[in-house]
Amino acid sequence: MANIVTDPKVHPEVILPDLTKPDPLVTFKKEDIAFVYGTKWKQRYFQKVGDDYFPLGAQWDVNHRIWRAYNVANGTDWWTKFYPQANSARPTGPLCDGCHAVNYNIQTKTVTEWNVGCEKCHGPGSEHIQRPSRANIVNPARLNYVQANNVCIQCHSQGQPLTSPIESKYYDWPVGFHVGLDLKNFWKLEEHKLGETTFTHFPDGTAHKNRMQGNDFVTSVMYTRGITCFSCHDVHGTENNADLLKPASVMCLTCHGPQSPNGPHTATIEQHTHHPAGTAGNECIGCHMPKIEQTIADVNVRSHTFKFIPPSATETLKIPNSCNSCHTGETTEWAKKALSSWPQVSPWRVAQ
Ligand code: HEC
Ligand code: HEC
Ligand code: HEC
Ligand code: HEC
Ligand code: HEC
Ligand code: HEC
Ligand code: HEC
Repeated sequence: MANIVTDPKVHPEVILPDLTKPDPLVTFKKEDIAFVYGTKWKQRYFQKVGDDYFPLGAQWDVNHRIWRAYNVANGTDWWTKFYPQANSARPTGPLCDGCHAVNYNIQTKTVTEWNVGCEKCHGPGSEHIQRPSRANIVNPARLNYVQANNVCIQCHSQGQPLTSPIESKYYDWPVGFHVGLDLKNFWKLEEHKLGETTFTHFPDGTAHKNRMQGNDFVTSVMYTRGITCFSCHDVHGTENNADLLKPASVMCLTCHGPQSPNGPHTATIEQHTHHPAGTAGNECIGCHMPKIEQTIADVNVRSHTFKFIPPSATETLKIPNSCNSCHTGETTEWAKKALSSWPQVSPWRVAQ
């Protein structure tokens, strides 16, 4: 997270695509790019006009290594109706920068750091730098579980400020919030009505787009038991994918297993998963964090509700399920039949 926004004049190597190769979607040149955003899933480019930045009309799909058009369509994000239709007329200050920089000042449009810097999670730090002490810095590990998770949810969620507009502008981030304050006084999570497919949610309430780990996680049992995002992630960086404390295949087993009161409640893990040890189908995240949340084109990230989504939900609610997200060649009927032969799961919950 320390490298999300980069100035290509200082770090020309950060631009992933080869801009000398012509592409009909790309109407800008290297010199037009003031900032480069992102490296993992998608890369977007901003130009500077006056004292504002604006997104350029093409984004790089990092996985497929191709250009795709970039324009947030009307009727998707809640704020589109308050802005002109073209991204090139939608400034990044109100719409992006609060989550990609530290201390974005809505009056001066300046930041103290372009990136997810220390103060975003530890609160204001100038006093701490002068007189380092535990008393003048926030350690998220010592907050209660709601406040602790809010450290991450301030950015990893889809929501809206409690009041809009703020000084005549519509912001897509919690203006005025910093760690140490209470997020609920600044921000509400995007609402959802069960049964409806919306820009943000599947009909069962699971998120279907990226950047909604917060919306998902607060619905989980683990959240209510005091687990936090940083029970699994170390945001200061690790060797594992997604900055996990341990590789995904062992992360869950630090708290779960046949002997653990947290379940699963079978004699062995294989009896719970019905897939041989060492195969993908035996990994907790395969069924409990299916990759169903879109970040760009067909590139998805994982759900964070930790719910097993049964094949029947695909039939009744038109939502992707845990089994067929791997077994893409099989039908939901096939998955239901397999599940109905698993003795430890309730047929009423998962197989019918
Ligand atoms: C994205 C959020 C985030 C950012 C950015 C971040 N931290 Fe942290 N930091 C945390 C969390 C969460 C914890 C508590 C983790 C834990 O102990 O499980 C923590 C813990 C720490 C601790 C350990 C405190 C203790 O008492 O053991 C130190 C030191 C620290 N961070 C320093 C930094 C510094 C310096 C930076 C900037 C270079 C930074 N952090 C950036 C979230 C963040
Ligand atoms: C200021 C906004 C902000 C805050 C606060 C924040 N994040 Fe992030 N996070 C981001 C952005 C932006 C990215 C994308 C970074 C990139 O791709 O370069 C990201 C990426 C991540 C990733 C993916 C890293 C990867 O390599 O796949 C994880 C995991 C993550 N954040 C966890 C957390 C956790 C846990 C917390 C709370 C302790 C937290 N974040 C707080 C903005 C934030
Ligand atoms: C409410 C906070 C928030 C807002 C507003 C926001 N982002 Fe992000 N952005 C994030 C977080 C958190 C991530 C990483 C996690 C994810 O995508 O699930 C991210 C990821 C990204 C990535 C992908 C990074 C990568 O390495 O692939 C890009 C590009 C990006 N944002 C651009 C934008 C642009 C452009 C805007 C404004 C139109 C914007 N963001 C608005 C929080 C935000
Ligand atoms: C119980 C453990 C756990 C908790 C709690 C958790 N995550 Fe994750 N997270 C994971 C795992 C596992 C992955 C997937 C890693 C992989 O695919 O290799 C992941 C992936 C991610 C990613 C990268 C996108 C993706 O799906 O690959 C982001 C961003 C992220 N988590 C943010 C968060 C935030 C923010 C919270 C809290 C609201 C949170 N996580 C809570 C385990 C957890
Ligand atoms: C830090 C400890 C911890 C870690 C790590 C952890 N869990 Fe949990 N998990 C819990 C606790 C505590 C509960 C609640 C158990 C209870 O009260 O019955 C729980 C409950 C669950 C449940 C049951 C939820 C329900 O709806 O009934 C699932 C599923 C689950 N965890 C999946 C995972 C997965 C998948 C991972 C790895 C990505 C993981 N957990 C990592 C502590 C953890
Ligand atoms: C092949 C799919 C699959 C895999 C892999 C899987 N689970 Fe499950 N899990 C299920 C199903 C199905 C249920 C029952 C869901 C229901 O009743 O709503 C379940 C329920 C649970 C529950 C709640 C019930 C209980 O027994 O306590 C926990 C906890 C859980 N799983 C943890 C895990 C952990 C930890 C892993 C990795 C070791 C894992 N699961 C791997 C399919 C899977
Ligand atoms: C993460 C991916 C993944 C998930 C999720 C998953 N599977 Fe599998 N499944 C596999 C793989 C890989 C194999 C082959 C295992 C081997 O090599 O023996 C397999 C094998 C099977 C088989 C036996 C071989 C066959 O094709 O007839 C059945 C039945 C099966 N899975 C059913 C399910 C059901 C039901 C679910 C949901 C509860 C599920 N799987 C979830 C990856 C997955």
